[in-house]
Amino acid sequence: MSGVILDCDTGIDDALAIAYAAGAGVPLTACTVVHGNVPVDLGSRNTVTVLDAVGLDGVPVYRGASRPMAQELMTAEHVHGQDGLGDAGIEPSARAVAGDLAAVRIVELARAHPGELSIVAVGPLTNIALALLLEPRLPELVDQVVIMGGAVGAVGNASETGEANIWHDPEAAQVVIDAPWDVVFVGLEATMRTPLTQEQLARIERSEDPRAQLCWRVLQHYLDVYENVLGERSCVLHDPLALVLAVEPGLATYRTVRAFVELGRGGTRGMLVGDLRGFRPDPEDPRAPGVIRIVDTLDTVAFHDRFLAAIGA
Ligand code: BDR
Ligand code: CA
Repeated sequence: MSGVILDCDTGIDDALAIAYAAGAGVPLTACTVVHGNVPVDLGSRNTVTVLDAVGLDGVPVYRGASRPMAQELMTAEHVHGQDGLGDAGIEPSARAVAGDLAAVRIVELARAHPGELSIVAVGPLTNIALALLLEPRLPELVDQVVIMGGAVGAVGNASETGEANIWHDPEAAQVVIDAPWDVVFVGLEATMRTPLTQEQLARIERSEDPRAQLCWRVLQHYLDVYENVLGERSCVLHDPLALVLAVEPGLATYRTVRAFVELGRGGTRGMLVGDLRGFRPDPEDPRAPGVIRIVDTLDTVAFHDRFLAAIGA
C-alpha cells in the first residue's frame, strides 16, 4: 500500500481510525474532510487535532463539502458530542488546514500517483462523488476504494434502515456505486460484529500509550451512547474496521452484489439495498456499475488484535 487518502467526518470513531493509522504506520497521504458527524469546519479542526495528537502532524488536511447534494445538512452531535470528540476537553490543535476543495485535491493526488492510492472513506460520500464528477477517470487512477457505509441486510443506525454515512448523502452514495470501480462497502452488517470486551476496554484504559489515552478520553461519550444500543458499556468500531480492511483485506471475505440507494423521500430514504436473494451466479465483475462488494465473514479476533496493538493497548 503506497498511500491512503482518508476521507472523514471526525467524529469519535474517525478519531479511533486515525489513532490506528498512526500506530500501524498506515501511509496517510492526506485527510479530506466532509460534513457528517459535525459541520465540516469542526470536522476539519478535529481531524487536524487528532492527527497532531497521535504524531501525524505532517499529514495535510483538506476541508471539503459542507452539505449533502440534495438534502439539508444533518449532523450527529448526539452520538459524537457537541465538539465531535466526545466533549472530553481535547485541546484543539492550532495547525491550519492545508486547503479547501477536498474533491479537487483527491483528483489531483490520484492524477499525480496513478494506480497507487487507496481511498478510504468513513464519512458521507459527498467529496468522493464530487471527485468522480470532476474526473470520470478516477476509478482508473486509484488502487482501491473502501467505504464505511450501509447496512445491507441489517438494521440502520441513523434511521430504521439507513446507516449514517449513506443516509447523510444518499445521492452521493449512488454516484459512488455507479462508478466503474471495485468498491468495498464495510457496513453495519460487519461493523456491529465488533463490540469491544470489558477486558479490551480495560487494556485501553490502563495503557500509558498516548494513542490509547486519547482513545480512552474520546470513547467515554461513545460508550454512553452505545450502552443503550448494546445493553452493556461497550462500543463497536465502524471506521477503524474500514481502514484495517483496506490495509489487510484478508481479515474478511467478501460477497459481490448488485446494489442501489433508496432515493425516495419516504422513511427508507438513504437505505443501501444489496441484492442478497442468493440467485447464482453472483455478479462476477465488481467493477461493473451498480455492483459493490460487501463483507461476508470477518475475523473479529484478528481485527481487534490489529486495532489494539496499533493504539498501544
Ligand atoms: C458511521 O457514521 C458516523 O457516525 C461514524 O463516524 C461512522 O463513520 C457509522 O454509521
Ligand atoms: Ca465517520
